[in-house]
This record gives sequence, C-alpha cells and structure tokens, in this order.
Amino acid sequence: MTAADNSTRKPTVEVLLESDWAAGSLVADVRRGLGTVPRSLPPKWLYDDHGSQLFDRITKLPEYYPFAREHEILTRHAADIAELSGATTLVELGSGTSEKTRMLLDAFDATGQLQRFCPVDVSEQTLRDAAAAVAGRHPGVEVEAIVGDFTLHLAHLPRGGRRMVAFLGGTIGNLYVEERRAFLGALADTLEPGDSLLLGTDLVKDADRLIAAYNDSEGVTAAFVRNSLTVVNRELGADFDLGDFSYVPFWDATMERMDLRLRAEVPQHVRVPGADLEIDLAAGEEIRVEISTKFRRHGIAEELGEAGFEVTRTFTDDAEDFALTLATKV
Ligand code: AVJ
Repeated sequence: MTAADNSTRKPTVEVLLESDWAAGSLVADVRRGLGTVPRSLPPKWLYDDHGSQLFDRITKLPEYYPFAREHEILTRHAADIAELSGATTLVELGSGTSEKTRMLLDAFDATGQLQRFCPVDVSEQTLRDAAAAVAGRHPGVEVEAIVGDFTLHLAHLPRGGRRMVAFLGGTIGNLYVEERRAFLGALADTLEPGDSLLLGTDLVKDADRLIAAYNDSEGVTAAFVRNSLTVVNRELGADFDLGDFSYVPFWDATMERMDLRLRAEVPQHVRVPGADLEIDLAAGEEIRVEISTKFRRHGIAEELGEAGFEVTRTFTDDAEDFALTLATKV
C-alpha cells in the first residue's frame, strides 16, 4: 500500500441520529420513567461528559474488576478471536475510543484479513476522533463510522464480507431480559450465517464482591449514578436537590443483577419543566437508574441459541469473573 493509496481512505461517518435526538429522547424517557411509579431513568443518561469521566475513573478502581478481567481475556485471546471469527469487517457497538478496541483491531489487522472497521456510538465527536485515530494506525483498513443507537440502528450495519460484531464491557447486562432478546434477535436478523458476535458479560459471583464493585470506597460510583439527576437538572431545568438522595446499590439474587438506585431521604416536590412534569416523591421512594445483570455460561448459551447464534468458544479469565463469548450466526 502506497502513501497515495492511504490518503484516499478517508473515514466515512454516517449520522443516523437527528441532532436533537438526545433532547427528544430524554424528554420521552423522563416522562415515562420519572412520571410513573416505580420511578426509573434509563442508564444511557449517565454518560454525559462528566459521567463518561466518572465511568473512566470507575474502570480504574480496585473494586471494579470487570474492566481489568475483560482486558486480561483480550490480552490473551484477541488473536484466537480474530482467527476463529475469520472476519474481514469488525463492527464495534458503543465503541468510544477504548484501548480494547485497539487490542482487537491490532489482532485482526495482524491476520492480514481485516478490510473494514465500523464503530457505532451515539456520540458523534467521540466517533470522529476514534475514526481518525484508527485510520491513522491502520492505513489499509476502511473506517465506516455510524452515529447511532445500537438498540435502533442494527439494520444499518455495513453488508458484505465476513463480519464480527463486538459488544464489550458487559453493557448487555444493562438491558432487561426482554430487551436483550429483542437486541440479540435484531442483531441475528442483520447478520449472515457465518458472521459472528463477540459478547462481553460479567459472571455471577459472590455477592460481597459484586456489591463492592458498585459501592466503591471512594464514592466514585455513587457520584456517577447521582450525576443522572444533574443531567436532568441541566437538560430539562429540573430542580432535583442531589443532597436529598442517597445512593442504594443492592444485589438482587433472584434476578441475578445489581440494582442501582437513588433514594429520596425526605419527601420532595420536583419540577421538570423541560418535560412538562411535576412529581412528588415520598420519603424513602427510590429511582432505579441502572441494572447490571450478571450471567452464567449456560444462560448465555441459551439466550444466544434462542436468538439464532451458536457458541463457538467461551473465553474467561483465571478467576472466571468475566466471559467473552464468541458466537456464530447459524
Ligand atoms: C458499562 C454498563 C458495563 O454495568 O458494570 C459501572 C456501568 N455502572 N458502575 C456496569 C457501571 C456502575 C457498567 N457498564
């Protein structure tokens, strides 16, 4: 490949979200989630600039093991994953600018088979930066970025070649079981037989370790979850008083998921003018901000099987804390 060829491979960025998508979708989510009992807010609103910085700090906390464990698995097995998948196109959902993306890309590029990288993220600026960085590091690889929501825009993934879709970090655990089914089904529908999915999932373990991972001693996770109310205050002019809420993380052993909530310590009347909403919270009333489901190997295989995938191989760390499952569309 010559320098002239390289310079012709400019990353493309396809924008599938309207510029006011976030605003409209926040209003709808707030009306639906905060306007009804039990109260909730979808976790995607945790990731404004400040929230993304806090999440970055979470990944470096000693208690938050999932990040390091997934990193360990990729360090050991990225080359196996590239080879087993045989993919010529790597798609990454919710990619951001992570080091894990780089590890996968390096492994795929090393096989000589990688032709295309397609990062999908809701943040246009994050994507543009990531696309430019990848294009610089992998001059032979076409970068086709998509600004989109992975629950809405799977049908727009690029066609052709053999594809592997990476969905890392355990983010699928944020979805409720019926949302997971819909997501995996839509993904299977857009893939061809032989294409694959690389799915990161946190595994069920001792409740003490799970709770510690979501209730760190520095209070970073509490600040991260509380920031969701700051987002509603800023974007919709709400008057949530953050000091009146305590952070309540608990392990739901029946559903096998962490359940992260904010509890109103005193009764309060909250105005949310941007959503044309006023709510009364009783003392002790809770707002659920995130669930983080933990999985078992047989459960993962079963859910994937129902959606039309077959497990090719499961990779875990030594402690079996976290799993990366490579599954093939049947
Ligand atoms: C980024 C969704 C995988 O569920 O563990 C971390 C988010 N929330 N601490 C997770 C999170 C609180 C994280 N995911």
